Amino acid sequence: MSRSEKNKDSVFQLNKLLEVTLKKVDQEIIYRLDKSIPLINDIGIHLINASGKRIRPLLTLAMATQLNDKSKNPILLAAAVEFIHTATLLHDDVVDQSNLRRGKKTANIIWGNEFSVLAGDFLFAQSFELMVETGSIRALSSLASASCKITQGEFQQMQIANKPNTTKVEYFDVIGKKTAELFGASCESGIIVANGSLAQQKAAYDYGFNLGLAFQIVDDLMDFNSQSNKMGKNLGDDFKLGKTTLPIILAWEKSNTSEKKFWDRTLRELKQYTGDFDEALNIFKKYNIFEDCKLTAQEFVSKSKISLEQLPNTQFKEHLIGLASESTQRSK
Ligand code: IPE
Ligand code: IPE
Ligand code: MG
Ligand code: MG
Ligand code: MG
Repeated sequence: MSRSEKNKDSVFQLNKLLEVTLKKVDQEIIYRLDKSIPLINDIGIHLINASGKRIRPLLTLAMATQLNDKSKNPILLAAAVEFIHTATLLHDDVVDQSNLRRGKKTANIIWGNEFSVLAGDFLFAQSFELMVETGSIRALSSLASASCKITQGEFQQMQIANKPNTTKVEYFDVIGKKTAELFGASCESGIIVANGSLAQQKAAYDYGFNLGLAFQIVDDLMDFNSQSNKMGKNLGDDFKLGKTTLPIILAWEKSNTSEKKFWDRTLRELKQYTGDFDEALNIFKKYNIFEDCKLTAQEFVSKSKISLEQLPNTQFKEHLIGLASESTQRSK
C-alpha cells in the first residue's frame, strides 16, 4: 500500500482523530504497571512498548467519542481493554509456545513461562481496577463476561487441536469466545459509558463481535500466508502445533484419501518433515482455500457493517465501516 493510500485508510484516520486520547490511554497504561515489582513492570513494558496495533482501545474510544463522551471513562476502559488483551497474549504465547510477538522475542522466551503467566494475571487484575474506577457496573459486566469467555475459548481451542475433522460450527464457537467477545465488549462498553441506548449497545456489540470473527479468520490465514517480519509473529506456528483453524477445516473437507493421510500425519500425529508446510500450502492452492476463508471473513464483515446502522451518522461511523472492510486486507 502506498503512503497516500495508507493516509486514506480508516484505521489511520481513526488513529489521527483520536491521537490525543490514545496518548492518554498509553499514559494510563504505563502508570498502572507495577513499579513496586520491577520484573512485572519490565514484562509489561516489553509488550506494551512493542508495535501492537491498539485496535481494541481504538474501538472503545471511537464508540464513546461518537456519542460525545469527553470524560475520562472511555480512556480508563480503553486502557482496561488493552490490558485484558495483553494479558491474554502473555498467556497465549505460553500455550502456543510462540517465540515472536510484535516483532520481539516473547516474554516466555525471555523470562520463562512462570513469570509470563503471573505477569498476565497481574495485567488482568489491573484491568479490573481500571473498570471499577469508571463506576459503570454494566461496562464492567460486559468486559468481565468477555474475559471469562476468552479463557473458555482458549481452552476449547486446545481441545480441538490435532483434530482436522473439527466442524466449522465448533471453530466459530472457539474464535467467537477467544477473540470476538473482547471485540464486542470493547465496542459495547464504550457505548455503555457514553450513555448510549440499549439498541446502540447491542449494535456496537454486534459490530465488534462480527469484526472479531473476521479478524481471527484473517489471523489464522496469516499464519500460513503472510510474512513474519510484517506480522511480528512467526509464520507456521499454528501448523507446527496442529492447531485446527479454518484453512485446515476447509482443506480437510475437500481432501482426497492421500491428502487426508498427510493431514493425519502432520496435524494429528505431529510428525512433520521439511517440505510439509509447503505441501500444506499446495493443497490449499489446489482447493482455493485462502479465497474461501476470505469470503467467510467478508461475510462477517458485512454483518458487522450492517449493525452500525443503529448508530448516529458521524465521521467515526464512516471510519468504523472502513475499518471493518480493511480488516480482511491486513497483513499485520
Ligand atoms: C492478536 O491480536 C491476537 C488475535 C486475536 C489474533 P492483534 O492482532 O490485535 O495483536 P496486536 O495487539 O496488534 O499485537
Ligand atoms: C488469539 O489466537 C488468541 C487470543 C485470544 C489471545 P492466536 O493464538 O491465533 O493469536 P496469535 O496468532 O498468537 O496472536
Ligand atoms: Mg497464539
Ligand atoms: Mg493461540
Ligand atoms: Mg494466530
